[in-house]
Amino acid sequence: MTDSHDAMLAALAWQVELGADEAIGDAFVDRTLPVEKPAPAAAPPLALVPDGTHPAEACTDLAALRAAIEAHDHLLKHGARACVFSDGNPAARVMIVGEAPGRNEDIEGRPFVGIGGQLLDRMLAAIGLSRHDEDPARAVYITNIVPWRPAQNRTPSPAEAEAFLPFVQRHIELIDPAIIVTMGNTPTRALLDPTAKITSIRGKWADLTVNDTPRPCLPMLHPAYLLRQPADKHKAWADLLTLKAKIDP
Ligand code: URA
Repeated sequence: MTDSHDAMLAALAWQVELGADEAIGDAFVDRTLPVEKPAPAAAPPLALVPDGTHPAEACTDLAALRAAIEAHDHLLKHGARACVFSDGNPAARVMIVGEAPGRNEDIEGRPFVGIGGQLLDRMLAAIGLSRHDEDPARAVYITNIVPWRPAQNRTPSPAEAEAFLPFVQRHIELIDPAIIVTMGNTPTRALLDPTAKITSIRGKWADLTVNDTPRPCLPMLHPAYLLRQPADKHKAWADLLTLKAKIDP
């Protein structure tokens, strides 16, 4: 082995230790060279628009909301490939809010497309719901609290969830669902109760109030949790029946 081979191997091991878990570009980038800074854009992305309101508030449709999220400068954005905005039927009566994209979602740019997402689709199908259904009564619309994949699929921190909360709240207002389902601790804590434990609160209807409008919200166990704890699937089934009873009383 040559010195340079050993040095390259050591550099790679160092990157893995720092948390790099995959290569994201085809072209080699020599980061030892000085970086030529591009001229600053007309205005840097601002957390607040000049009148003091959050940029999410000005969004009157989904395309504008997506653009506002993409323009919002957040550290997570720099480690992700794609903004994972939503999937499903925007006219759906049921809106699902998950946690954050994983590797597959980051690649495809859609929420819940990995094995957890496939389990979610089967769970929904068991009560006659689908993200692909054109009938709003049978359809779901899906988004996440955090739109960018946290490195190594870690759980987003409460601060990261909070940073995107105004966007999620506006998302809820624009979709105007009859029912909201939060999947797992992260969205349940961000939207309903920062101290909630999903294993205690799941399956119980709560009021989720956004801008003075309350909507029924059902916290459920996250599909990724169910893949790790299959013995708890009966609890998810009970919660799905609770959801179905609300949809088809
Ligand atoms: N888990 C989530 O919470 N959301 C996704 O989009 C994928 C996995």
